[in-house]
Amino acid sequence: MAKRGIKSISSDFLVIGSGVAGLSAAIALSGSGSVVVLNKGRAMEGSSEFAQGGIAVAISEEDSIGFHLEDTLAAGRGFCREEAVKVMVEEGPDRIRDLISWGAEFDKEGGRFAFAREAAHSRERILRAKGDATGEEIVKTLLRRVSSSPEIAIFEHHFTIDLLIDNSGCRGAIVMDEPKGEIYLIKTRATIIATGGIGRVYSRTTNPSVVTGDGIAMAFRAGAELEDMEFIQFHPTSLFLPGAPPFLLSEAMRGEGAIIKNIKKEAFLSRYNPDAEMAPRDVVARAIWLEMQATGSRHVYLDLTSLDPVFIRGRFPKIYATCLQYDLDITEEMIPVSPAAHFIIGGIKTDINCATNIWGLYAAGEEACTGVHGANRLASNSLLEGLVFGSRTGEEAAKVSDKQEVVNGKLDSLARDFMSDNGEGRQESRDDSDKIINSIRRLMWDKAGIVRSKDGLDEALISIKELRTLLNKRIQTSRADLELKNILTIAQLITTTALTREGSIGAHYRSDFPDKGDRWDRHLGLRKGEVISRGGAPDTLCSPQVYWYR
Ligand code: FAD
Ligand code: SIN
Repeated sequence: MAKRGIKSISSDFLVIGSGVAGLSAAIALSGSGSVVVLNKGRAMEGSSEFAQGGIAVAISEEDSIGFHLEDTLAAGRGFCREEAVKVMVEEGPDRIRDLISWGAEFDKEGGRFAFAREAAHSRERILRAKGDATGEEIVKTLLRRVSSSPEIAIFEHHFTIDLLIDNSGCRGAIVMDEPKGEIYLIKTRATIIATGGIGRVYSRTTNPSVVTGDGIAMAFRAGAELEDMEFIQFHPTSLFLPGAPPFLLSEAMRGEGAIIKNIKKEAFLSRYNPDAEMAPRDVVARAIWLEMQATGSRHVYLDLTSLDPVFIRGRFPKIYATCLQYDLDITEEMIPVSPAAHFIIGGIKTDINCATNIWGLYAAGEEACTGVHGANRLASNSLLEGLVFGSRTGEEAAKVSDKQEVVNGKLDSLARDFMSDNGEGRQESRDDSDKIINSIRRLMWDKAGIVRSKDGLDEALISIKELRTLLNKRIQTSRADLELKNILTIAQLITTTALTREGSIGAHYRSDFPDKGDRWDRHLGLRKGEVISRGGAPDTLCSPQVYWYR
């Protein structure tokens, strides 16, 4: 591998990710300098594009910012950072008005916006587009806005490998232009991570294939602080059909009257919680999991058959058409469903302006942790989070001055370190990355899923460490190997914090500690520990240090 002459380009700002958060950040940055937006696939390939239910925002006459705040705090089990929640619910209406002024069309009834109800919302406040295609409408609107700004360039199929860090902070990133097979540096004043969640760390997930936790893993390697990585939200209802992916069946379906039934075709949720179908997401997902255990089944049913077929086809056109592809007519038959990993609540720790502990490095969107979701995210708050904090991070990053001169030689040597880490003493990459990834994903589903215990988590951690040792001896320059490294890192971080939090609150449930425990109101921080040398090669996955704080 070449050790000299690494190509580099400069841009004032770098945004890694083109979902709702990354695009909002880029728009807020335009006017302040040149902006490069990277994504590792196509521009529309993250979770944002697939969002169905809608976007929660307090703009109806029956609603108020205060009610939205209260519902978010209650769903978050008193574990949210109230300051961050306030920012989101207060700034949300303006961000929606921006979208509408840029051409976004939300569904209306009788000339007024149609607001839906979802679980744990005390009011009807979910705006939607084309029934169940809200994410697509929002991303298309943001992309249109981006394309009208000559300062913003989107680079598709550019995989970000790692951040460039020198003594003063973050100076950009090392990226791989996949089609050209070229690795080069992008040097910047400020870098914003907006890479989305970690869903693909689990075998059952609603998330698309690009969602492999890269941003959190690279921030961790760079020395960023992470927070509450054990809080993974499992969506209660994803399609469970042989040969079909675990396609999401929106919570909005329950909001419209769909009922969850067990394998004996009996409604059961009221036995677990008085709010039944409208109980918070963590409660419903766990109740389904327990009912599946009790009835020896791998799925339950979502039943819409009592609703008017014309209404179903009009209200959920995308879901209806997708299920029909698998020969399932949801107006006539019950839908086999089971929970799936959906959203990471923790992530890269930021303040309310999205700054991390590293100068010049920001994070916004799903991979960031402002504390806005507490221990359990309220449905449809995530698109709003992406719009509000994406925009804020752009405004904040624009203030980063260019005064600290980039030390080019130093950065080149950082990149060369990466190259030589993949040089002598390493084995050639093999084409078994997908196989290893699948085994980690199954392991995480079985041992670090909806219900966890010390024995299972210990077992998972041993397997993860073994895989880590194996992988560390290998060259890691293909996208598959780099994603494998990131998935393994995220698996280790989730498992470590899930083991440390001996208590159950919100989305984190330990069968051996079913009560919330003494430390329920403390956050769990993580940062890179000592870099251990294994068999002569430095361990690029790094061991985590875990610490508690309020
Ligand atoms: P994403 O939209 O996931 O974007 C991530 C971007 O990062 C992508 O462009 C990707 O290519 C890029 N990227 C990742 N790694 C790299 C790398 N190494 N190098 C370069 N680029 C990289 N929330 C709601 O509020 N309402 C809903 O109705 C709703 N429905 C949902 C339905 C589904 C099926 C799913 C999966 C999620 C849903 N959510 C919903 C959650 C919400 O959509 C996401 O949390 C949110 O869209 C995340 O936005 P983001 O910008 O942070 O990330
Ligand atoms: C859904 O439509 O059920 C997903 C909503 C969300 O994840 O917020």
